[in-house]
Parts: sequence; structure tokens; C-alpha cells
Amino acid sequence: MNRPHDPGMPDSLSAEVGRSHPHESAVLHVTGEAIYTDDIAEVSGTLHAALGLSSKAHATLLAMDLTAVRNAKGVVAVLTAADIPGVNDCGPIVHDDPLLADGSVQYLGQPIFVVIADTHDHARRAARKAQIHYHELPALLNQEAARQAGSYVVAPMRLQKGDARTALGNAPHRLAGKWTVGGQEQFYLEGQIAYAIPKEDRGMQVYCSTQHPSEMQHIIALALGVHAHQIVVECRRMGGGFGGKESQSGLWAGVAAICAAHLNRPVKLRADRDDDMLVTGKRHCFSYDYDVGYDDTGRITAARVEMLARAGFSADLSAPVATRAMCHFDNVYYLADTDIVALCAKTNTQSNTAFRGFGGPQGAIAIEYILDSIARLTGQDALDVRKANFYGRNDAEGRNVTQYGQKVVDNVIHELVAQLEHSSQYRQRRSAINLFNAASPILKKGLALTPVKFGIAFNVTFLNQAGALVHVYTDGSVLVNHGGTEMGQGVNTKVCQVVAQELGIAFRWVRASAADTSKVANTSATAASTGADLNGKAAQLAARTIRNRLADFAVTLFGGTAAEAVFADGMVSLNQNSMAFSALVQKAYLARVQLWSDGFYATPGLHWDPKTMNGNPFSYFSYGAAVSEVIIDTLTGESKVLRVDVLYDAGQSLNPAIDIGQVEGAYIQGLGWLTSEELWWNSDGRLMTHAPSTYKIPAVSDCPEDFRVQLFNNANVQDSIHRSKAVGEPPLLLAFSAFFAIRDAVASIADHKINPPLTAPATCEAILKSITFIQAAQAAQAAPMTGNG
Ligand code: MTE
Ligand code: HPA
Ligand code: MOS
Repeated sequence: MNRPHDPGMPDSLSAEVGRSHPHESAVLHVTGEAIYTDDIAEVSGTLHAALGLSSKAHATLLAMDLTAVRNAKGVVAVLTAADIPGVNDCGPIVHDDPLLADGSVQYLGQPIFVVIADTHDHARRAARKAQIHYHELPALLNQEAARQAGSYVVAPMRLQKGDARTALGNAPHRLAGKWTVGGQEQFYLEGQIAYAIPKEDRGMQVYCSTQHPSEMQHIIALALGVHAHQIVVECRRMGGGFGGKESQSGLWAGVAAICAAHLNRPVKLRADRDDDMLVTGKRHCFSYDYDVGYDDTGRITAARVEMLARAGFSADLSAPVATRAMCHFDNVYYLADTDIVALCAKTNTQSNTAFRGFGGPQGAIAIEYILDSIARLTGQDALDVRKANFYGRNDAEGRNVTQYGQKVVDNVIHELVAQLEHSSQYRQRRSAINLFNAASPILKKGLALTPVKFGIAFNVTFLNQAGALVHVYTDGSVLVNHGGTEMGQGVNTKVCQVVAQELGIAFRWVRASAADTSKVANTSATAASTGADLNGKAAQLAARTIRNRLADFAVTLFGGTAAEAVFADGMVSLNQNSMAFSALVQKAYLARVQLWSDGFYATPGLHWDPKTMNGNPFSYFSYGAAVSEVIIDTLTGESKVLRVDVLYDAGQSLNPAIDIGQVEGAYIQGLGWLTSEELWWNSDGRLMTHAPSTYKIPAVSDCPEDFRVQLFNNANVQDSIHRSKAVGEPPLLLAFSAFFAIRDAVASIADHKINPPLTAPATCEAILKSITFIQAAQAAQAAPMTGNG
């Protein structure tokens, strides 16, 4: 079968990196040829599993009558925790996360048993027939209730710099308050799925939609009580992960493998959307309690904040998520004396997990809310208050050490914001909006520019490693396997570009294969936006090793020195001679030169002390800024984003088209988080927003009609892969600008003199509440002070 060729891409190109190659699977995506886990041709004898879920938020399991389930049509077997031969756990860090509930249930939706039947439908129908007797226990349903009860999944964390208490006491002005942001469902288009096929000698091949094949291998090996070398996990691609498949694909992979091992038959476990949303964790919602000091110019002089995250029933990744939140409370702003506490509340709800930004958005939006409020108190444009707080440009300017001790050595936020302020005509539009609002009593417009700085690296240092395996075949074509997983973000495209560049051949000669634990071992999750950084470097090193061998071999043919060999445009040139890459490869094979190699990369310069919360957790920072203009209807609370201008620092972009796509997608996903996506649990702890019918992600009609995304011309100061910068998560924070533009529109009702409280997501209801507050506050101010008491 022919591989799709890049339209208009000639064979001879001197640089593959930096070009806007289409996604390597773009044609397969749009023709429907791309194979996702559920599309893999089923082995004969394949069975289908479904989970039986808890209907209580917190209870002891008294008795389970599964007779009706067993007797249901098509059922082959029903398994519970007692049938797990090995370890009943899928917790990535703390082992508090049973695959199947054992003795008690801790949230409504927790899997209790699994039923295996001849068809997916039969399994699902049977799962509903269980008679489960619960002894109900009191449930903690939100983070405030958990805090009251002192219920946490991990010990409280504290990050201190200087003496915040004294500095707050000395501050010219103070602002204290409370605020909340909601959680968010990942809403990957392809739901959680795993397909397990037993192999000889207690081996197991598992196809799984996962960002973390090695972790799946580990969970399955433990659950089955076998060695890791008996388990192979493969993922060709995901239909999105967004963090939701970093740890939480473990449940599905583990349970599918247990079923397959028990019956010695292939078993597929695919969640339908409602079950997926009921069972799996989401972005953590956060509550904040803050107290800051500031001066007349709006510059923050001291800050104290307590962040309370709803972790759900188990630890999962909550500790590193909360750590990233604490390390992003500064965003692009210098904080002197600071005291940050983070609490991971243990609640009887889904175990919250990674979601694009991994706590960074929740950390940074808090300081943005505070600065936005300070601007109204000092009567300044919020952009000027933001600028007054920026980190210094360099050592001479000072103000460049973060609250966790890392020095910011690559600050470009001054130039980047200045460029965007100019290109977006921020000041002119501000005046125009003031005029519009003065003449428009019902519809109000708002505008905001918000900046972003995002730390790149896993904040758990050891995870910053990657491997790759590059094969050059005798026809000159190249197959790359690397530790990263493809979830639509384009990591394979970028890695193939890097390898093509290294070998001096055209992109179409290089192909990436599925992520596979039997090819590259002990991989980290594809997460923390590091996929291309880590795997790109590893693949580059592998390709370089092969190139060096080929160069040595070329010397035997042409003379000269290996260092002089040039690999470009599909040719290898040395000492006035030149030969096609494929011809040289053919000759090298006959001369018994090894034409494949591994590569390994570990990010240098990282260290982190979790006890003192101090160190150099990040390799570098990605920067960006966005201007959003919105309009709200003050009668209905509806909002619409009219225009968005973005400038994003992708360093020397590996692939501008893919990077711009990532920026656009992340902005819209952030917009959903902050405006329309509301998770709602009823008083029993049942998530009622468990399908697209009740949970509103952005639609095409929510996208701004005028959306201008540009990449900032910059090069990474760190020796990252071709001096590029990560792009996967940071642009999600650009959607802050839409939220603060909405708040600006609400504030315009009272001439920007009163701070409207506005919780996120800014749904119609939240906006109306905010409007009601501000109208009441305005009326109270306008009322004559001469009343009779
Ligand atoms: N883009 C698409 N299309 N689908 C996804 O699931 N996940 C995001 C981001 N962009 C995601 C995406 C998240 S949470 C991360 S951490 C990065 O991609 C991971 O990929 P990278 O490290 O290769 O950028
Ligand atoms: N991002 C994503 N996953 C992680 C991180 C991170 O910073 N740290 C540990 N797991
Ligand atoms: Mo992304 S939240 O680090 O998977």
C-alpha cells in the first residue's frame, strides 16, 4: 500500500526541521484509515468486558449477589477483587487505588466487578443486573468538607520564600479573599480502552489507548503476578489523552488483562462515554484563600495563599499536580516574600488526575485573579499592573528568582507582550470598547491581555529521560521507535523530522512505529509537554550514531575524514564524491555495518528537593500572551469571544503548523474550562454531568471568528532539540484572557471601580451572579448616605 506523500514536498530539502509538515497521519485521520485500539482486527474468540459500578459514594460492601449478572445473556464470567491473582492496585505513586473495590467503595462510579460476555452490549446489559448491599458511610463530597474533616490524600505541602508574614504586615495595601475554579473533564474523543490477548507462557499482549505504556506494563505485571518481560503494551495512537490517559488508563489495561488471563481468551474493555466520565478523574478544582500586600503602583510586595485541591478518593498524581500549581503561582511575576500551602483534599469522588497544564493553570490563574483585582483598586489598566510585576529581564534588573529558587534566565515576556500589545492594538481597542459600552446599556464588551510562563520538564526529576530505536533498512527507508506516544499532538511527526534532518533525507523516508514496551523500555509518560523534547533528542542521538557509522564507512570508499561527510538532500558527499543515501546504505549493509541504533537522553541541570520545595525543577520556560475581546449580555449572562490575538514562544519551532494547531486547540480547551464546562455532583455524590448532553465542551460556534495566532521569533537558550520549545500544554493558560475579558465586561457596569466576584467557569449563571453583585454594590454606593439609620 502506498504511504501518503506530503503534497508538494520534493525529495531534496536541506532542512526537514522547522517546516510545516502535515501531521504524519493527517491523511489517515481524514480518510478514516487510521487505526485506533478499537479498530484493531479482533482475534477470533475475543470477549468483551464491562464494569459494574458503585451506586454509593462511600460504603462498606456487605454482600454482592451477582447471580443475575452471571445468568444474563451471553455472559461468560464475572470477576471481583478476589479473582485478581496479584496486586489489586493501579495507583501510580501511592498504592491506594484498587482496580476493583475490595470491601468498601469510596466514590459513586467506582468499579466493583467486571463481567465478560460475548458482545460489548451483552456485557453492559449484564453489569446493570447486580444486587449489591451497601452499608452507607458519611461521604465527603467537596474539598471544603474534606478540609473540615482534615481528610487528605497526601501530607500538606508548604513552599516559603523570605518572610511573608512580616512583609504582609509592612505592605502599603492589602487584598485578601477567597476564590474557586472548577475542574474539567478531559473529553478525549476516543474513550478509555484496552484489548488484552494472552500469549504463551503466561505472557500477555495488551493494546491500550495510553500516554504511558510502561506504566500499563507495570500495573498488568503486578496484577497478574508475572514479570514485566511477559507483558507487551502497544499504542499506535490515541484519539486524545489530555492527561486523562497518563495514569488512569491503568484501570482499563489492568482489568482487561486480568479478564484475559483468567479465561485465557482475548478480552476487550471499552468504556462508553457515561461510564468513562463516571469512573475516571478530571482536572482538580481548586479553592484559594489568599492575602497579598501591594504598593501604589500595584506591585505585589508579599503573598500568602492556601490552595485546596479536590484530589478525589486516591492520591493518583495529585501531589505533583499540586506541586506544579505551587510552582506556577508566580506565572510571569516576581514574588518576593511568599508563603504557599497546598492541600490535596481526599473526597468521595473520582480520583482527579493530570489534565493539560497539570496544576499549572490552577496555580497561575490565582495570581492573575489577584492582579486583575488590584488593577481596579489602584484604578489602573490591568495590563499596566501586570507589567509592573513582571520578572526582571536579567541579573542587572534583579527580581528574577522564583519562589522555588530557580533563576529565570530566559525571560522574554517584556518583548513578547510589547509586540502583542502593539499588533493587537490593545490600547486603541480599549478606547473603542469604552465608547461602545458607554452607548450600550445591555450588551457590554470586555478586553484582557494575559501572559503565560510555563516550566518545561516533569517536576519529578527522574521522569525526564527517554529512549529511541532507529532502524535503517537496506532500501534506505527508516523506521523510528521512541518512548513517546502519539495522541494527536504530532510527536511522531516532529521526531521523524528530526531523524530525517539528522540523516539528510526527506521526511517521507522516515516512519514512526507504534509505541511498544518491547522496543523501548522503561519509558516515561508522554506528558509535561516534553514528548518532542525528550524523544526528539533520543531519536536524534540514535540517528547520529548511524550517521557516524555511515560516515566512517564512506571514508573507506571515498577517502577524506568522517567529520567532512555531508548528509543532505538524500545524498552523502565526501571528498568530491557523492552517493545517494540509499546506495550508501546498501553498500554499508554488504560491508556488515550496523544500520540500527538506540539513543538515550536525560535532561541535564534538573534537581528538586520535595522537602524544601526548592531547586531547578524546569529545564526552561515557554512563554506566551493573548488578548481576548468578549461581549456579554447582561440580561442573560451569555458571553461570546469576538477576537483573539495570540503570540506564543515555541522557540525555533520544529513545525510551525503543528505548533499553531496546538496553540489554537489549547486556547479553545482552556476557554471551555473557564466558561462552559461545569462539573456538577448531586447531594448523593453522583456526577450528573456525565455526557455531552449535560457537559458542555466548546463547539465550533464558540470559537472566535477572528483568531490570530503567531509564533514569537525566539530560540531556546537551553540546548533543547533544535532550540525549540514545548507547546503542548502552556497555551491552555492563554484562555485566561477570555475569562478576565468577561470580568472586565462585567466591571464596566460600574465603570471599573468595583471588583466583581466571578468564579470559574464563567457560565451564564456565574456571570449573572457577578452582574447582580455589582449592580447591588453600585446601588449601595449611589444611595444617599443621609438615611435615618
Ligand atoms: N494535543 C492533542 N491533539 N491531543 C492530546 O491529547 N495532550 C496535551 C498536549 N496536546 C494532547 C495534545 C497534553 S496534556 C500534553 S502533556 C502534550 O500534548 C503531550 O504531548 P507532547 O509532550 O508531545 O507535546
Ligand atoms: N507533568 C505531567 N506529569 C507529571 C509531572 C508533570 O509535571 N510530574 C510528574 N508527572
Ligand atoms: Mo499532560 S497533563 O502532562 O498529559
